[in-house]
Amino acid sequence: MPSLSDFVHTQFLLRIPQPSVSFAGKTVIVTGGNGGLGKQIVTYFVRLGAAKVILACRSQARGDKAKAEIESITKCRLDVIDVMEVDIESPSSISTFVDEVNELDRVDVFVNNAGMRTAKHQLVYGTERTLGVNMIGTFLLALQIIPLMKSTAKRYKTTPVMTFVASALYDVAKYPENPGDDIFAWYAEESHMNHMNQYNLSKLLQIYGAIKLCQILDPENTEDPNPIVINSVDPSFCKTGLSGELSGVAKGAFKVFEAIAANSAEEGSRLVVQAAAAGRETHGLYLRAGKVQKYAPIALDEERTTHVWETLSKRLEKVQPGIMRNIE
Ligand SMILES: NC(=O)c1ccc[n+]([C@@H]2O[C@H](COP(=O)([O-])OP(=O)(O)OC[C@H]3O[C@@H](n4cnc5c(N)ncnc54)[C@H](OP(=O)(O)O)[C@@H]3O)[C@@H](O)[C@H]2O)c1
Repeated sequence: MPSLSDFVHTQFLLRIPQPSVSFAGKTVIVTGGNGGLGKQIVTYFVRLGAAKVILACRSQARGDKAKAEIESITKCRLDVIDVMEVDIESPSSISTFVDEVNELDRVDVFVNNAGMRTAKHQLVYGTERTLGVNMIGTFLLALQIIPLMKSTAKRYKTTPVMTFVASALYDVAKYPENPGDDIFAWYAEESHMNHMNQYNLSKLLQIYGAIKLCQILDPENTEDPNPIVINSVDPSFCKTGLSGELSGVAKGAFKVFEAIAANSAEEGSRLVVQAAAAGRETHGLYLRAGKVQKYAPIALDEERTTHVWETLSKRLEKVQPGIMRNIE
């Protein structure tokens, strides 16, 4: 867990600079772009001159509303932001979205921002929903975007960046002592859910996935180095809609804490845009408070990372046969 002094620094003392790097000519995609951090991230990319910003979200109406607001604030041209629908809980929605994305000429930046937390036990992708969305669905989508990012790199001699919006809470996640041979199947069982832990665990599994993905895409001693950069970023604790699916005492406590300590979504979005503008030195790494930060020991557990990756790969192959060939 971030130490108290680290938390106080990030939440109360850190002055997060407004990003100023140019995204001119670039095509950028942000999932969950209709609200919270995502809307602010889209706004920055538009301000920073991106040629095309895909505001990806699960509701066309909410996406259109966000697009109109951003256009009104930034006074950008009306052909810069395109809204595309994608529901990360649905393989068919992801498939349709990927088909649309593949019609684009290039993808320079992809921000895996969409995420959720809930206290209810529901099943998605055969596991508890928080893990289903924040981990399985997020990778189901990400792995299908990588081929176009790689071809963008080659064709335009550029370095596309994929960023996962992580959370410092991965560090306090409790990993089950004996989840059997499939951690996702383990959490399909309602009695195994710990609603205080589920979101944190989803972000730990996401970190395991990102670390493994980066190792696979960047093997040592390769003569054909992976042309894309993948990193994870903690946006700090921000006031957004993330508590929306909580209820009762959990929601009340969250709201009080948020009122005292949270940064604005706009401030948090600056950190994400910084990560999306970062270079090869951040590949496979985790950024917090604007800098690369060492992974906490829990993220460096090789055995768990391998188990999570192998279990994830099997599930992804079942949903989308051949998907793992995208990263060979
Ligand atoms: N806020 C924080 O303090 C904080 C800290 C660390 C990390 N994060 C991460 O930041 C990211 C953005 O969260 P936020 O804080 O901005 O919360 P938010 O305001 O609730 O935004 C979450 C976004 O994800 C979308 N989303 C949720 N489930 C989805 C699905 N199945 N398919 C497609 N989109 C989906 C939501 O769409 P709808 O509007 O349709 O629900 C919304 O656009 C998340 O990954 C979160 O874990 C947040």
